[in-house]
Amino acid sequence: MDYFIRKDNTLFAEECRVAELAKSYGTPLYVYSRATIERHWHAFDDAAGEQPHLICYAVKANSNLAILNLLARLGSGFDIVSKGELARVLAAGGDAAKVVFSGVAKKSDEIRYALEQGIYCFNVESAPELARINRVAGELGVKAPVSLRVNPDVDAGTHPYISTGLKENKFGISIEDAEALYLAADNLPHLEVKGIDCHIGSQLTELTPFLDALDRVLVLINKLAATGIKLSHLDVGGGLGVCYRDETPPHPKEYAKALAEKLAGYDLTLLYEPGRAIMANAGILVTEVEFLKTNQDRHFAIVDAAMNDLIRPSLYQSWQEIIPVEQRRDVDELSYDVVGPVCETGDFLGKDRLLAIKPGDLLAVRSAGAYGFTMSSNYNSRPRAAEVLVDKDSRHLIRERETLAQLWQGERLLP
Ligand code: LLP
Repeated sequence: MDYFIRKDNTLFAEECRVAELAKSYGTPLYVYSRATIERHWHAFDDAAGEQPHLICYAVKANSNLAILNLLARLGSGFDIVSKGELARVLAAGGDAAKVVFSGVAKKSDEIRYALEQGIYCFNVESAPELARINRVAGELGVKAPVSLRVNPDVDAGTHPYISTGLKENKFGISIEDAEALYLAADNLPHLEVKGIDCHIGSQLTELTPFLDALDRVLVLINKLAATGIKLSHLDVGGGLGVCYRDETPPHPKEYAKALAEKLAGYDLTLLYEPGRAIMANAGILVTEVEFLKTNQDRHFAIVDAAMNDLIRPSLYQSWQEIIPVEQRRDVDELSYDVVGPVCETGDFLGKDRLLAIKPGDLLAVRSAGAYGFTMSSNYNSRPRAAEVLVDKDSRHLIRERETLAQLWQGERLLP
């Protein structure tokens, strides 16, 4: 459920007219709703209930400082994958002690920075990474808190590019190898073994893969307990899907309940790393129709947003709803391919969309709050879009549109 609502044929973001936002800030424009973000975060936190838990929002989904700050104010933790993401969390007022550091190749300087800031835990993805963390912690004279990210070899049933828990994927340590590595970690002088981590993919719309993975992880937890390694937390990763079109993903409540049933009798703090479930439907991308063009085969709506602004449709052939900001009845609906100005055939936001539109109209691409702006680029030397956050009837510019000079900032001419 979100707060992008149509009233009298016009789209509102909470109590702000989207057309007015576009007029003030221009297009393409990302618009986020504070109430939606908070609602989604609380849905997780409430679902976890009495079980000791920490919601570590996956920063990669949307890392705007204002959004991280909102979540920090709610008491959120953060899942980061780089020094840059940690720096953002800190700049936004996040608490390092609630940060988990994921990712397959943490560099030594990233590990050092995270240790200096006092993060909660590293999710370690390989034996050499474990050795590197031990070495850097030794240099600093501290003990690094670690979890091993295990790869349970289950099919998440999602797009192959965002499936991470199969043995052919680069992520994690196979369950078979994990026990020996836990024993090794336990014997390394500069590590403190804290927990176990498992993230099997993104946009999961069924509970079964999560629960199958958990079964395998619990077998390992039991084996470790038998060898005297007691873990204090279980990080179940992110991955809970959202509704883009007609998917019916489980509610966080159902998910948390199913986990709790399996975890009865275990004394573990639960960590969740949701990204998409909090942000996707809390944002839209607003774009203006530049031209309508028809050839022998198709109708095109050429808009001012492109694959550099929102790459998900091009990269994963993902479907996101596209709606007119103001509905009109004076033209017929036609089936359009909604395409951007970038010089690539793969530059589209949606295909075969029934729309009644004229040039100059505004369209909103829904479900664009996660993996939208964060995956945007300057391809075709296009300045990145502005971002606005609405809060009831107030609006806040949370990122200015990039300027042309910013496009070549840092570049140098030859002498
Ligand atoms: N934790 C880890 C270790 C992850 O790798 C990810 C996402 C998450 C948590 C958050 O997953 P979520 O709750 O958002 O599903 N760009 C793709 C999604 C890539 C997800 C990468 N990892 C897309 O636009 O669909």
